[in-house]
Amino acid sequence: METILPPLQAIPAGTVALADYEPLAQARMSASAWAYVSGGAADELTLADNIAAFRRLRLMPRVLADLRGAHTRLELFGDTFEHPILVAPTALHRLAHEQGELGSVIGAAAAKAGMVVSTESSIDLEFIAQSAQTPLWFQLYLQADRGFTRDLVQRAEASGYRALVLTVDAPINGVRNREQRAGFAVPAGISAANLQGMQPAARTGAGVGDSPLFGSRMADDAARWSDLEWLREHTRLPILLKGVLRADDAQRAITQGAAGIIVSNHGGRTLDGVPATVDVLPAIAEAVQGRIPLLIDGGIRRGTDVLKALALGASAVLVGRPCLHGLAAAGAAGVAHVLHILRAEFEAAMMLAGCPTLAAIDRSLIWQTPDASGRPRHQA
Ligand code: FNR
Ligand code: LAC
Repeated sequence: METILPPLQAIPAGTVALADYEPLAQARMSASAWAYVSGGAADELTLADNIAAFRRLRLMPRVLADLRGAHTRLELFGDTFEHPILVAPTALHRLAHEQGELGSVIGAAAAKAGMVVSTESSIDLEFIAQSAQTPLWFQLYLQADRGFTRDLVQRAEASGYRALVLTVDAPINGVRNREQRAGFAVPAGISAANLQGMQPAARTGAGVGDSPLFGSRMADDAARWSDLEWLREHTRLPILLKGVLRADDAQRAITQGAAGIIVSNHGGRTLDGVPATVDVLPAIAEAVQGRIPLLIDGGIRRGTDVLKALALGASAVLVGRPCLHGLAAAGAAGVAHVLHILRAEFEAAMMLAGCPTLAAIDRSLIWQTPDASGRPRHQA
């Protein structure tokens, strides 16, 4: 019998960094649910690189900056956020904690963080919105049934969601061996609540020798560029594209009316072998030229990672797994604490780097390694 501990009633002393939440969460989830949350695609090259890429970057602080009146506020799509850290959309929060997304949204609001609610949330999007004291965005997976998709969008609008996040990097799940090996299946009693009543897309059950995916509904119904136009016609909300890694796709997204871009590789869960998000961020920032907000997720575990992401052109960041760790460990209080730790580290990093506002965070904070000649490379 597997031993699964109950959620903590109080956060243990010594829980001081996001990493401290991992073992607390793991002890409170089944091994298979843990494999689902923590795993990535295939060899997990991208999963590992998201973390490693942030760790490779080095900072170049400014001294003696005037920090009076310092703050981390920003505006996104007409809402003011106290800081640039949002909860990333992740499916099925009830895998982590009984309260599911209700715990997460209470924790996010306590930490004054925005939250993106997944299409595959385990609580109805309306209930989550009712508990929300913080701006919510709705993450949309286009469903094969476009009529159902339109209803989903209307439900999100009617419930007060402030933006749509169209995820474009996951027409199918990645090949997620860790969760396959652990035999992960969504437990009875937990489901994607918003999708109740929808005809499930035909699963592939191809035999050896048949095409496993091509020719299936999965491929034929996968979202296309024309769907962005379709979606714009059916909503008044700003649409962010989540899962962009290429500058030319970012450019096309803007041309086709996207209001924001999230540089993401789905936390290393879809196509394995793509670069770390922070490594592609500069090229995308260059293409976007500040025309629309640019966000990033994947591997953000420290306040210094937030600083690095903003230095390389992001307006804000999203955090996925650590929020689920906080939720599994201690419910809403865990989520709030995870987000608070990250915010506190970020403010400390800004102070130590000499940045009184987000606008003061620029590319020059990233140290350029000297080239082979020993001369420092040109600072952008
Ligand atoms: C995700 N992610 C995700 N993305 C999305 O657009 N819709 C979804 O339903 C989900 N579901 C999901 C479940 C789980 C368990 C994880 C870990 C991730 C991806 C998520 O939004 C985000 O891109 C990554 O989690 C960011 O990486 P980190 O912060 O987890 O490293
Ligand atoms: C995942 C899907 C739900 O990453 O996006 O598990």
